[in-house]
Amino acid sequence: MCGITGCVTKQGNVANILYNSLKRLEYRGYDSAGVSTVYQNNLIVKKDAGKIDEIHSRLNFLDLPGNIGIAHTRWATHGAPSQVNAHPHLDCTGKIAVVHNGVLENFLELKQDLEARKHIFKSKTDTEVIPHLIEESLKMGKNFTEAVLEAVRKLRGSYAIAVLYAGEPDKIIVARNESPIVIGLSKEMNLVASDVAAVIEYTNKVVFLENGDLAVVTSDNFQIFRIDSGIPVQRKTTELNWTLEMAAKGGYPHYMLKEIFDQPNVLREALRIQDKYLDLLTEFLDRGREIFLLASGTSHNACIVGSYMFSKLARLTTYPVIASEFIENYGSSIGIDTVILALSQSGETADVLTSLEYARYRAATIIGITNVLGSTLTRIARAYVLQNAGPEIGVAATKTFTSQLMVLALLALRLARKRGKVSQYEIDEFQEELRLVPQLVEKTLELSDEPIKKLSKETARFSSMFFLGRGLSYATALEARLKIMELSYIPCIAYPAGESKHGPISVIEEGYPVFFIAPNDETRKHIIGNIMEMKARGARIYCIGAEGDEEIKQLSDWYLGLPSTHPLLSPIVYVIPFQLLAYYTAVEKGYDPDKPRNLAKSVTVL
Ligand code: AGP
Repeated sequence: MCGITGCVTKQGNVANILYNSLKRLEYRGYDSAGVSTVYQNNLIVKKDAGKIDEIHSRLNFLDLPGNIGIAHTRWATHGAPSQVNAHPHLDCTGKIAVVHNGVLENFLELKQDLEARKHIFKSKTDTEVIPHLIEESLKMGKNFTEAVLEAVRKLRGSYAIAVLYAGEPDKIIVARNESPIVIGLSKEMNLVASDVAAVIEYTNKVVFLENGDLAVVTSDNFQIFRIDSGIPVQRKTTELNWTLEMAAKGGYPHYMLKEIFDQPNVLREALRIQDKYLDLLTEFLDRGREIFLLASGTSHNACIVGSYMFSKLARLTTYPVIASEFIENYGSSIGIDTVILALSQSGETADVLTSLEYARYRAATIIGITNVLGSTLTRIARAYVLQNAGPEIGVAATKTFTSQLMVLALLALRLARKRGKVSQYEIDEFQEELRLVPQLVEKTLELSDEPIKKLSKETARFSSMFFLGRGLSYATALEARLKIMELSYIPCIAYPAGESKHGPISVIEEGYPVFFIAPNDETRKHIIGNIMEMKARGARIYCIGAEGDEEIKQLSDWYLGLPSTHPLLSPIVYVIPFQLLAYYTAVEKGYDPDKPRNLAKSVTVL
């Protein structure tokens, strides 16, 4: 996730407006940044790796001349953070500048075709194909608007772009598919940006573009067209009564709630991860004699789910291990045939890195899944996959957890194909269900928000809770417990439901709250038995199960039914209500869900 912004004023320089807007977008990405303006029919560009203020102290963004410009702050997905990979990107003539937020799926084929036409590329980014496509159309006699229309029609994937052209310096052209763009309207200027945070300081009048819209924005006007047909279209102007702080959170009261609701888009981005990165990890996993899935906290819970996926779809045995226990437990037994798949959204967790350094000393192969390009994990790993989830500001992992599960599912799918241990039908069925996950999560968010918000009035009064699940729903139970504990500080217990009768059930007394995760999979009949055991001892049964499961609903004191999905994908859907429960319970108790006590976003100490 990156941040783009642009502005065209009726008079006066635009540099300080671009700088302020860019700073408001820093939460969307901060590994490199750049600004471009047009002055006396020339494009001027300043960009570098680093945070916005660091670059500004070196290059001074504020002395850029001109009344029109665009800017970008980057969260790298293709090409490491560097000056050459920073946006804006230019064409061969240096007259076209483009900033982009999103992931282009077909940039390699476009790049090859453009290189065959003698275009010179400088960066490793997917974005750089866009100015060269526009350059090609301008060379064919199209005007700026027609050239951008033609270029974006060739793009596949997610994009929000803003384009400057020195040959027509009175307009900024923006276009979007999946990634958001908003136009800000004021008497002195018009702005474009990834979200309201970048414009709210200058205006509360905004127009939200829809997927497939292209807009031509001047200092006192704007026109919107449909990309596919070129037909003009109207979009309504909204007057927002947001504060600056609300805008930075997309109108949500906390980053955590924004990130919970951002998951459908994040999961779509995970499905756009390029095959070559997934195939490389698949190769290493397929060759390993023994494979450990190593992580801490929420990422460890993701490893448990991954282990089930690899086993059931590819008949590949893997061992999910807690990073801080790894060396003690397995250090003396690993060696050159060992493969370690490390999961760490920050890529900086000390327990993980320490284990990996030791494993590397023992000649094990290290591969990784992380959300931060350029993190230490990406430098230690032989190969890695980036989650493309965008920065996660809330301390509690939410969107990075479900995007880890999507990446693990994509790897399991490739391993299943490669190892051929299950039927083609099973593989096709899993692939189809995987594609539907983002919209299922969207539906689950809609179904869950109100009932869970209401339930949090109850859970806020609890002094303890039980979370029980069977099979890979045990991982969902562990993640539910972790979320509730780290945000509402209520001590909770999570157990495999089949294990609760071997001791923990002694905790149960009249009214004790027990949460069951009960998707309609092969564990359902045993879960019913576990519910009966708890009910017999006076427990109050809260159950999150399948939509329409009347039998379990009848057994429950509180029931929420979710849409069904492939059993191996149920943790992605079933964790959503628990993320919301943890959030609303914390708010109900008067705590700040973005900054829970005693915790850090990245635990860089042992
Ligand atoms: C999750 O909500 C917690 N913030 C914590 O358990 C976290 O998952 C753990 O510290 C691992 O972080 P990582 O994924 O960045 O390695």
